[in-house]
Amino acid sequence: MKSPTSRSSVSEPGRREFLAWLAIAPALAGCTVASRDDAPAAASDPAAPPPPSDGHDGREDEEDEEDEEDVAMTEEQWTSCSPTTRDAEGPYFEAGSPVRTSLRIAEASEPGVRLVVEGRLLGPDCRPLRGYAVDLWQADKDGNYFQASQTAFRLRGKVVSDSYGRYKFETVLPGRYGDAAGMRPAHLHAKVLTPQGNALLTTQLYFAGDPYLGQADYCTRSRYCNSADPKRALRLTDGLIGGVAVKRSRFDAFLSRA
Ligand SMILES: [Fe+2]
Repeated sequence: MKSPTSRSSVSEPGRREFLAWLAIAPALAGCTVASRDDAPAAASDPAAPPPPSDGHDGREDEEDEEDEEDVAMTEEQWTSCSPTTRDAEGPYFEAGSPVRTSLRIAEASEPGVRLVVEGRLLGPDCRPLRGYAVDLWQADKDGNYFQASQTAFRLRGKVVSDSYGRYKFETVLPGRYGDAAGMRPAHLHAKVLTPQGNALLTTQLYFAGDPYLGQADYCTRSRYCNSADPKRALRLTDGLIGGVAVKRSRFDAFLSRA
């Protein structure tokens, strides 16, 4: 695994700590994927999201070339409402991130390809979940994580669903990281939280076509991650926001309980 400290001035868990985490991961409640179904997560976040608000921030796309067919829910998703599978939390989660619609807090200075993700949070029977939050954290374009307290939660934040269960956020495409042991596919970490801040699901979102998905993901080979589920592999389309090229995707999370 690439050492984040090699590219950042902040203190970060390194390869040794990550490998230590892999060793203890099976003992961490709610953090393993020994069972790859959507078993309830026991973890809770003391930082409850604020009251429901419009998950769309009003920064309307000025030029949106989104392909509606590519982002529409599939018939299979609608009919099955099959719960989104969980995935490992990993060592870099930090509670208490603020509600924001962009994880690019440094905006112009946050390098990387801009990414816009939107979707819905849906509970049992596919009912929209209003006022729920997606707590996100990720690596930057080079695969580095940043310590929240020293970077104002850089590339971390919560987005809150509106009355239709919709959420939307902007960020940058994360980079892969790895070391001699192997490479992890690019991914976004996510927890779905109730309005009271309880975590219902901890998972990771990947990107379709990444050659390191599945058994090529050394974390999956170690049986602590689950990057083989194609339903959590985001499909990217090209778009424009304010004349700037962006990648867009959609992800609908199905929760087996609300
Ligand atoms: Fe990660």
